[in-house]
Amino acid sequence: MYTAVWTTIAITLAAAGTSASFDSQAPILEQPDVILPLVGSYVRTLTHESHPAHSLTITAHNSSQLSTKSNGPSVSDICPGATSGYTGYLNSGEKHFYFAYFESRSNPTTDPLVLWLNGGPGCSSMLGLFMELGPCTVNEGGESARENPNSWINSASVFFLDQPIGVGFSYSTNNSEHGQGGTFAASEDIYAFMKLWYKAFPDSKSLPFSIAGESYGGHYIPVFASHINDMNRISTPEEQIPLESVLIGNGIFSDTKQASSYYDIPCTNVTGIGPLLNSTVCDKMAAAVPRCEFLMSICNAYPDPLICGASSSYCSETLESPYFQSGLNYYDISKPCEGYLCYPIMSSIQKFLRTDKLRKAFGVDERAPIFEGCSNEVGREFQKVNDYIIDTRPFVASLLHAGIRAFIYVGTYDWICNFVGNERVFGSLEWRGLPDFRYQQENNKKVWSGGLWWESGPLRYARINGAGHMVPFDRPVEALKMFTAWLRKEGLV
Ligand SMILES: *[C@@H]1O[C@H](CO)[C@@H](O)[C@H](O)[C@H]1NC(C)=O
Ligand SMILES: *[C@@H]1O[C@H](CO)[C@@H](O)[C@H](O)[C@H]1NC(C)=O
Ligand SMILES: *[C@@H]1O[C@H](CO)[C@@H](O)[C@H](O)[C@H]1NC(C)=O
Ligand SMILES: *[C@@H]1O[C@H](CO)[C@@H](O)[C@H](O)[C@H]1NC(C)=O
Repeated sequence: MYTAVWTTIAITLAAAGTSASFDSQAPILEQPDVILPLVGSYVRTLTHESHPAHSLTITAHNSSQLSTKSNGPSVSDICPGATSGYTGYLNSGEKHFYFAYFESRSNPTTDPLVLWLNGGPGCSSMLGLFMELGPCTVNEGGESARENPNSWINSASVFFLDQPIGVGFSYSTNNSEHGQGGTFAASEDIYAFMKLWYKAFPDSKSLPFSIAGESYGGHYIPVFASHINDMNRISTPEEQIPLESVLIGNGIFSDTKQASSYYDIPCTNVTGIGPLLNSTVCDKMAAAVPRCEFLMSICNAYPDPLICGASSSYCSETLESPYFQSGLNYYDISKPCEGYLCYPIMSSIQKFLRTDKLRKAFGVDERAPIFEGCSNEVGREFQKVNDYIIDTRPFVASLLHAGIRAFIYVGTYDWICNFVGNERVFGSLEWRGLPDFRYQQENNKKVWSGGLWWESGPLRYARINGAGHMVPFDRPVEALKMFTAWLRKEGLV
């Protein structure tokens, strides 16, 4: 059992830019004469007169200290298995980004640093923390949580960030900013966040940094990582962010390339448990695929809301509705869709995250709204700027060309961002490693305990048999194994 003590430290720092504009020239920052350790318990304030709007408000938790009863339960009381770390906010003008950080259970001074992002758009990374890979998992009923022995913090220090603004515990004092500007605007906020992170915790600069996530992370992560890589190229070595790799589970990269797979999963036996829909329904779906692809390509060429609205309504009516009407879980074809977001545990997590004890222990600001697993408002903002149709394949290619490694892993029972679509994307991704990658995919798949995998140079792909969209939830042991092997640059066995 862990207990912890609470210390709140507020740090005001200068960041190299704002979400509105980034100059290539970073401002000169006042150098701290005392450097913050990754976990500490004293107050340090850094200020810079030209960027007074940026600050980090952090609460440290220390898993090996006794909790002070006057402050109520600690992080590790609420979340058994939690290591030392921080929770808090990056404040950037009106925007307040929430994060929870846990140091590695192994070697926090040398293990990699990983940023975890859930998708949506609009879904909170707290879902990933409490359902998939965080130090603890919420129990059924949402009254408590239990230790997660297969947490990804077993081999890396991980922070879970709620983004964009309007998601989870992140909020704006200007409500009209929720999710505004879509993925590209968010990428500037992530960059500002990372700059502040390294100002506050310069020791973590020596750790390899990876961004990991799932689902709409197939949009976020290639764009965010490319932005960091672009900024690194015009930054001094001291200013660079040590981005080493990205990990994307069951991602959506290209709606045009992935749309046809909405047919394959329920209408063939490619999963080993199909077909799931009858031939009358499937024949209609098959007939709709070419027209849907055609309309999507027109929308991509001429991204006018009228055109894209027409293509998305045709595709969703013909290729998505038949599956939704089946009552099956759209994240896991082997299960019925039950409850909020198709899983009973989702409403337990939501209930848990709405309790005062959790908000207090996890340093959630009083101004942050009541917790929602996914924000519809943010989803609508992304729709407004046609974010869904962004094709992120060129961003993945540019990362690979820059030597940033990419690990694509896909649970085979997912429907919404399934393995057939992912393999169509990566079997045709235009980068210089394509011929060999395609050869590996077609002729040289290797076996590991989770399923099949193959790789070429910096790009690795793995299937996890029998896992749905949330791989660490369905296959915790295999998920930790593939995560650890990837960070250590080892093959899968
Ligand atoms: C946590 O508290 C213990 C006991 O006071 C102390 O020895 C340790 O250094 C602290 N750990 C961190 C990471 O701050
Ligand atoms: C709130 O956001 C809107 C839209 O971005 C902007 O026009 C307005 O100036 C903002 N208000 C404040 C007080 O920042
Ligand atoms: C689907 O594939 C599985 C595994 O290969 C097989 O056992 C099953 O019989 C197949 N089902 C149909 C309907 O062909
Ligand atoms: C096929 O499935 C649809 C949707 O569930 C149903 O309405 C229809 O009656 C089924 N057709 C046959 C031939 O079973």
